[in-house]
Amino acid sequence: MPTPSAVAEPVAEAYRHGIGQALNALLRLGAFAAGDHVVNLCAGAGIDNLAIAGRVGPAGRLIAVDADPVALGRLRELAAKHRLSGVVQPVTADVTTYRPPPGVTHLACAFGLHHLIAPAAVTRQWATAVPAGTSLLLLDWGPRGATVGDACAGLPPVHPIWQPVAASTVRFGMPEPYPPVATIVIRRLTCRSKKEL
Ligand SMILES: C[S@@+](CC[C@H](N)C(=O)[O-])C[C@H]1O[C@@H](n2cnc3c(N)ncnc32)[C@H](O)[C@@H]1O
Repeated sequence: MPTPSAVAEPVAEAYRHGIGQALNALLRLGAFAAGDHVVNLCAGAGIDNLAIAGRVGPAGRLIAVDADPVALGRLRELAAKHRLSGVVQPVTADVTTYRPPPGVTHLACAFGLHHLIAPAAVTRQWATAVPAGTSLLLLDWGPRGATVGDACAGLPPVHPIWQPVAASTVRFGMPEPYPPVATIVIRRLTCRSKKEL
């Protein structure tokens, strides 16, 4: 029988590979540029924070919002290790009531929407605080074996004030005993005119 670490390492490797591909898709779809101001909601201590901060810094900002101060403490340490302390700004707050500051170019939320009881209402609330044209980048686990067209049907709902612009799907194999294929859907949406709220 394989030891727990012999099982855990292939699983961890599969996740590293899949998440790495999803981050590449996030950076491509997000088209983050030097000087952009990004608010990452449900940021935790994920490497999505560092990947985006690396693109926007040192003139830009990555405001990392999460309810968990311990995760944000880990993120602060990671940012220091990667010389991104001047770019990454952790904020302990509930994303359901948080209002992004003026000047934000992008909102992002990686694997966070499914934690929220009412994602459509929360994404509406985010839209009230940003100008039309602001981008929203989302990463979510998709239904197993899905492609872009059908994957979106199973995702956490987003308020229609956010217009879908582009999406891509990353699929990667998982070792036993997990389901053989995991899917991550990466979406870019743009805030429509507030007249539609
Ligand atoms: C699955 S983790 C994702 C972390 C990171 N984005 C990543 O991809 O690694 C979800 C995060 O959402 C945070 N979270 C859940 N509900 C929240 C809320 N209402 N307000 C703020 N953060 C919340 C949790 O604390 C957790 O860090």
